[in-house]
Amino acid sequence: MTTSGFDVRPTAHPTDTAIRDEILGNSGFGRYFSDHMAHIRWTADDGWHGHEVRPYGPLTLDPAAAVLHYAQEIFEGIKAYRHADGSVWTFRPEKNAARFRASARRLALPELGDDDFIGSLKALVAQDNAWVPTPASAAEETSLYLRPFMIASEKFLGVRPSKEVDYYVIASPAAAYFKGGVKPVSIWLSSNYKRAAPGGTGYAKCGGNYAASLAAQKEAEAHGCDQVAFLDAVENKWVEELGGMNLFFVYRDGRIVTPKLTGTILEGVTRDSIMQLARDEGLTPEERHISIDEWRDGAASGEISEVFACGTAAVVTPIGELVGEEERIRLAADNGGEIGKRLRTKLLDLQYGRCEDTHGWLTRLA
Ligand code: COI
Repeated sequence: MTTSGFDVRPTAHPTDTAIRDEILGNSGFGRYFSDHMAHIRWTADDGWHGHEVRPYGPLTLDPAAAVLHYAQEIFEGIKAYRHADGSVWTFRPEKNAARFRASARRLALPELGDDDFIGSLKALVAQDNAWVPTPASAAEETSLYLRPFMIASEKFLGVRPSKEVDYYVIASPAAAYFKGGVKPVSIWLSSNYKRAAPGGTGYAKCGGNYAASLAAQKEAEAHGCDQVAFLDAVENKWVEELGGMNLFFVYRDGRIVTPKLTGTILEGVTRDSIMQLARDEGLTPEERHISIDEWRDGAASGEISEVFACGTAAVVTPIGELVGEEERIRLAADNGGEIGKRLRTKLLDLQYGRCEDTHGWLTRLA
């Protein structure tokens, strides 16, 4: 059997329907995985080949595989949404495909074309369609989170780009990213750690950036916070992003500001979509530097009325508090903020097919 050019080898042990339904009803984020995964192999001699959908399961990697030593790895995050008529759609996959190629260039990995990237999502979702949750209501934002990733699999300890690479897509039923659902989260302002520096890998979606954020995330949790915010590495002044999400600041006068992309910030697909949706709503999105003092002063004076985080996993999540070594700044009413909420609803309505797709952002997967 072939789907989108992928050979399909179904599992002999599909998850029992009752167990799958139980998982879909209480998935959390990133804890459970569907029955299959997509795979494409790359070698320097033969390029991309061997497209397949095969049973989900452990990988066999040589202990000398380059990824295990030099972290030559990239990934993506994108969701599959079930619409009311049962069809399954994804959101702006060509943006993720382009970012995956930009990440590949930075990590000296081979580039994967749109056809293979989007084809792999289609092939996997066709096989694991039953793993895409059906939201019971608009309040239930469940989806199938797709995680494409690419690893350097050559058995070689010299430090150079791998001549053998494997690309996979795994799928995980997902509810809200944060445990408490959509309620304001608290942010720890990291003063000990930096996430990225100019010329580094900040804009690439590579595992190393997330590994570098973990000590700071641990520090955040030790201070009772949900996430960590990073400042720039040169002046220690400009707000960049959270451990795995972009940031937006809403001003009383309708401006909505997000840190400018300088090479150290991840170019979020949700970030870009929020800017367009804000424009559609008559707000004025701005991409510029925003300093930590502007955040502090704006929150204190009320000039900044809301701050929210956004990302594929987090969607739009209000920020309630900024906590630092010697400060604790409350940022929003207990319910977050109206603008963030409106943009969040707009985005989800679009993704779940509850309003017209005026920007042509949806692609049908199944
Ligand atoms: C996403 O939003 O998809 C992310 O990749 C963030 C995090 C879960 C790593």
